[in-house]
Amino acid sequence: MIVVSKIDELKNQIYDWKKQGKTIGFCPTMGSLHQGHMDLVQTSKSKTDKTIVSIFINPTQFNDPKDFEKYPVNTENDLLLCEKNGADMVFLPDVKTMYPETKTPIQISIPKLQEHLCGRTRPGHFEGVLQIVTKLFHLTEPSKAFFGLKDYQQFRVISAMVENLNFPLEVVGVPTRRETDGLAMSSRNVRLSPKERETASLIPRMFALAKKTILSGEKDIKLWKEILRDFLLTGSSLRIDYLEVVDPIDLQPKDKLEGQVLLAVAVFVGEVRLIDNQTIEIPS
Ligand code: PAF
Repeated sequence: MIVVSKIDELKNQIYDWKKQGKTIGFCPTMGSLHQGHMDLVQTSKSKTDKTIVSIFINPTQFNDPKDFEKYPVNTENDLLLCEKNGADMVFLPDVKTMYPETKTPIQISIPKLQEHLCGRTRPGHFEGVLQIVTKLFHLTEPSKAFFGLKDYQQFRVISAMVENLNFPLEVVGVPTRRETDGLAMSSRNVRLSPKERETASLIPRMFALAKKTILSGEKDIKLWKEILRDFLLTGSSLRIDYLEVVDPIDLQPKDKLEGQVLLAVAVFVGEVRLIDNQTIEIPS
């Protein structure tokens, strides 16, 4: 496995691969890798010739400086995991490489898709994501790029940018990898104390309850959300950042329980912010 931190080294290797007619799969990450990231690598390996993983904690997407400072770093283990899973190259740039001070900042946003969910409660987050992902796409020139569906809004926003601005690549969503109790794998989970980890398991249990109430005929969206909120809050120290029911394509709030809905949640367990979502088919 090749590990590079400079743009020239990255581009030279990509030039060689392209000359040999190889297709490139790209898995952008912020490190502290887990099996969910390795699912991206495995999916990329099954669909493209060469897989590049980037590891870069992107400062421009953190609206809370404390969250940025506390973002877990585990580079040694990340490289071992990438190697074990057959990644061909890891790009590990530093902040100066990605954001030279001489460059004028630029902003891309997709207002409609960013109006709700994390776009509403983390102002500036998706502008930072789109900025770094655009730069990384241009540097790695992939034919396919892989993103976890736990960050569903991120997946939609990036897919829409690629489609609207004619980026020459396909965005592939990879299903969320879960722990045995159903908690979505996240780099942030390592920051949970044992007690907080127990509280976090309310999230998958809330999704199970959501599906059960739908199957038993719940049709009132307000009441459904109240039941789910009560379930999360009763007797727990967890704080809800949002609990929303939106359309899975345009991410606008639904006012009726019909068709496909995306139930998306963000909570704080102690200081740790966790997100998750499920697409649910409402029986007619
Ligand atoms: O999902 C992430 O880890 C980040 O938002 C991404 C896509 C690597 C951009 O920094």
